[in-house]
Amino acid sequence: MATLAIVGTQWGDEGKGKIVDILSEKADYIVRFQGGNNAGHTVVVNGTKYVLHLLPSGILHDGKKCVLGNGMVIDLESLWNEVEFIRRVGKNPEGRIFVSERAHVIFPYHKELDAASEKLKGDGSIGTTLKGIGPAYRDKAGRVGIRIADLKDEETFKEKLRWNLREKELTLKHVYNYPVSFNFDEVYSHTMKVYEKVADYVCDTVSLLNRAIDNGERVLFEGAQATLLDIDVGTYPFVTSSNSSALGIPAGTGVSPKKIEKIYGIAKAYTTRVGGGPFPTELKDSVGELLRARGHEYGSTTGRPRRCGWLDLFAVKFSVMVNNLDGVVITKLDVLDAFDEIKVCVGYELDGEVIDRFPSTAKELSRVKPIYETLPGWKTETTHVKRWEDLPKEAQNFIRFVEDYLGVPVPMVSTGPQRDETITCCELW
Ligand code: GDP
Ligand code: IMO
Ligand code: MG
Repeated sequence: MATLAIVGTQWGDEGKGKIVDILSEKADYIVRFQGGNNAGHTVVVNGTKYVLHLLPSGILHDGKKCVLGNGMVIDLESLWNEVEFIRRVGKNPEGRIFVSERAHVIFPYHKELDAASEKLKGDGSIGTTLKGIGPAYRDKAGRVGIRIADLKDEETFKEKLRWNLREKELTLKHVYNYPVSFNFDEVYSHTMKVYEKVADYVCDTVSLLNRAIDNGERVLFEGAQATLLDIDVGTYPFVTSSNSSALGIPAGTGVSPKKIEKIYGIAKAYTTRVGGGPFPTELKDSVGELLRARGHEYGSTTGRPRRCGWLDLFAVKFSVMVNNLDGVVITKLDVLDAFDEIKVCVGYELDGEVIDRFPSTAKELSRVKPIYETLPGWKTETTHVKRWEDLPKEAQNFIRFVEDYLGVPVPMVSTGPQRDETITCCELW
């Protein structure tokens, strides 16, 4: 197996970072293909916690090559801070970070527009991370975005920046009543100062990746956000602005879908969501609070408390279909150790009728009633369990139930944040 992809099956924060870190050991390249520093991927190594926003989670393995693909939107200052962070923790980033020259740049005006748009939406706001993600992708689709390659040419960059500053100032002032005036010289010189620091990492990652795959090197694609936050198949408009399912890999890397051999999804043993939008299995009671407390469910990027609820297998099954998953890794099983019984959503009722498809509108999804199956809890600590046979019978049954319902195997089960708090039932590579 030479190419493998990992994507979230829920609304993000499933533990992708931990699983990608483990799989990175056998990879040559680890590749982000969409999103930006809205992501917060946590990796715990020997008790030390690292939260990565832009760099792929493989960066903590010495010598592994990390690619930021053309589908990403990149805040250059955030990138530089992360490179410095990697150096501070004793890792050498040189020669192993490759940033696509086709990726788009996030500018200060994107963050202002993100905040202004959220403010105007009021109660209907998405609850974005305010990192400027949506406005940067809006410029990309509107064909006025500035790509990293543009920074190489002074005249091109100056011309595009001047036009954008004017357009954004007008928009902020007249559309959002949000007066901001950007100083061209300041934005230009600051961007160039940061760009020069990362310029050595910038290259044509499309050719790099295709050559690597053609040479039989192992490439691991790391999804950020998740399938239900995907701009096309997610719970629109409460989504992010990129294709954060596996559907985004070809477009976000320039690698043909024919070259992606295996795709695995990650699902938490329960569900969380941060930000607005419908969430059928949400628990606004003491059970939800217990999930939040046991799972430490606070955003890695924004620190916001995450909304918590039971595992929604009906939603995960939609992700299995959309991504054509080869299997689903279950994480945070240990968080369920304290419950007498565990509920799992196996279907939706909409306006009194059981439905056979995941709703395509937020309005419909907000009206569905989850249909639950109740499974017995195990009330035994599973953290540190490393072998399938050491899991309590009820926990094994929970996993078997998930496999039967989804119709795909669970090749790995995670029982704690550390690398070795993992049960590997079969190799993913
Ligand atoms: P990501 O965005 O999908 O990479 O996930 P996050 O890093 O935002 O959130 C997952 C959180 O759960 C992190 O704090 C991880 O350290 C932690 N975590 C991952 N796997 C497990 C697990 O199996 N058990 C527990 N208790 N924590 C886990
Ligand atoms: P990782 O990769 C969870 C959510 C935001 C908001 C919506 C849009 O760590 O799983 P954006 O700033 O992208 O325009 O916000 O998407 N969101 C995430 N939720 N995990 C993430 O990333 C997220 N990235 C964005 O909370 O609801
Ligand atoms: Mg996260």
